Amino acid sequence: METKAGVDGSLSLIKQGAEARVFESSFVGRRSIVKERFSKKYRHPSLDAKLTLKRLNAEARCMTKARRLGVYTPVLYSVDIVLHTLTFEYVEGPSVKDIFLEFGLRNGAVVEERMDDIAMQIGHAIGKLHDGGLIHGDLTTSNMLIRAATNQLVVIDFGLSFTSTLPEDKAVDLYVLERALLSMHSSCGNVMDRILAAYRKSSKQWSSTLNKLAQVLQMDHSLYNTHVKLLAFDLLTLTQTSSSSSSSDPVSFSRNGALLSRAETVGTVTSRDLKPNKFLRFTIDDGTGCVNCILWLNQLSSPYFSRRNPADVRLIAQTAQHFAAEIKLGVIARVRGKITSYRGVTQITALDVVVERDPNVEILHWLDCMRLARKVYNVVPPCK
Ligand SMILES: Nc1ncnc2c1ncn2[C@@H]1O[C@H](COP(=O)(O)OP(=O)(O)O)[C@@H](O)[C@H]1O
Ligand SMILES: [Mg+2]
Repeated sequence: METKAGVDGSLSLIKQGAEARVFESSFVGRRSIVKERFSKKYRHPSLDAKLTLKRLNAEARCMTKARRLGVYTPVLYSVDIVLHTLTFEYVEGPSVKDIFLEFGLRNGAVVEERMDDIAMQIGHAIGKLHDGGLIHGDLTTSNMLIRAATNQLVVIDFGLSFTSTLPEDKAVDLYVLERALLSMHSSCGNVMDRILAAYRKSSKQWSSTLNKLAQVLQMDHSLYNTHVKLLAFDLLTLTQTSSSSSSSDPVSFSRNGALLSRAETVGTVTSRDLKPNKFLRFTIDDGTGCVNCILWLNQLSSPYFSRRNPADVRLIAQTAQHFAAEIKLGVIARVRGKITSYRGVTQITALDVVVERDPNVEILHWLDCMRLARKVYNVVPPCK
């Protein structure tokens, strides 16, 4: 176990994640958890520092908001904006993941009762968060603890949380939990039904959320939320359907019957058309075809963003401007984003752009695409 000197006692590493490291430590004599966000090396340094600080503040704010909404969370002891750390109370007790894994091994009336109690607490907690306009963003059983002394559910890890009142966002929050339960706790039976029954009782807006959840589940597909790596010839021949009844989401894309929503492409930038403060249109040629991409630059004037927090919108706009400056004719770029359609042609609405310095990445991308198509994309079962 890695340790390093802390202000108040030593730190021992509990978890090393992609965005944060979690340590156990002590804070004025109390057992505590220190969560440190670190930088992403591929991002522009000043932008990276801003984003890291933003996520740190957002996590602290969302956790505090959850507590105000009546959901138990660890007590926040301190926020350090220089070291990029949050220090929380250490909650003594097992995670719901460990409890459910153990349920899977045994059966019986006492167990059923405990399971019911936990499912009810989970449903109530999510209902309170959602009615207060807070989306947890990572509802898994590892992010829920049961305080040993009181048997109360404590929700942790607000690192991906955000505020929203949209039924879609709430439905996706529940969907993430449903997937986690299915993959990790299939032997626990109908625990999601029990959670939803409690959610229905505690959330006043349950009906619109559960309708959306039903829609999301119908489109359920393992590749749907992945950035699939497709070569241009493959991407440009995806099947487009106008299956959804919602007007905001008129076109969906599928490949061999599997629904897709996001893709990644790598290649040379062969055209560039900039409309300042509106958009940058560009083309990526990967040797098998040209993929049209659009990067929106209108965040500061678009009504779509007007209900979002102005500081967030400025940051999104700044990130997009940074990407636009990086996209120069002749560079090799990796573009990730949503698969969209413009005048019937499949394109990518860019969400993330990385300019690659190593010329080998194009060939490596080819190999990746071929391997993934053969081993993964071609073998997933089609949607129902
Ligand atoms: N307040 C806490 N009390 C006890 N354990 C915690 C606490 N916060 C986090 N942990 C432990 O650390 C793990 C990782 O913390 P988490 O905030 O979920 O970080 P990550 O974003 O990396 O998932 C949790 O799954 C849990 O086991
Ligand atoms: Mg976590």
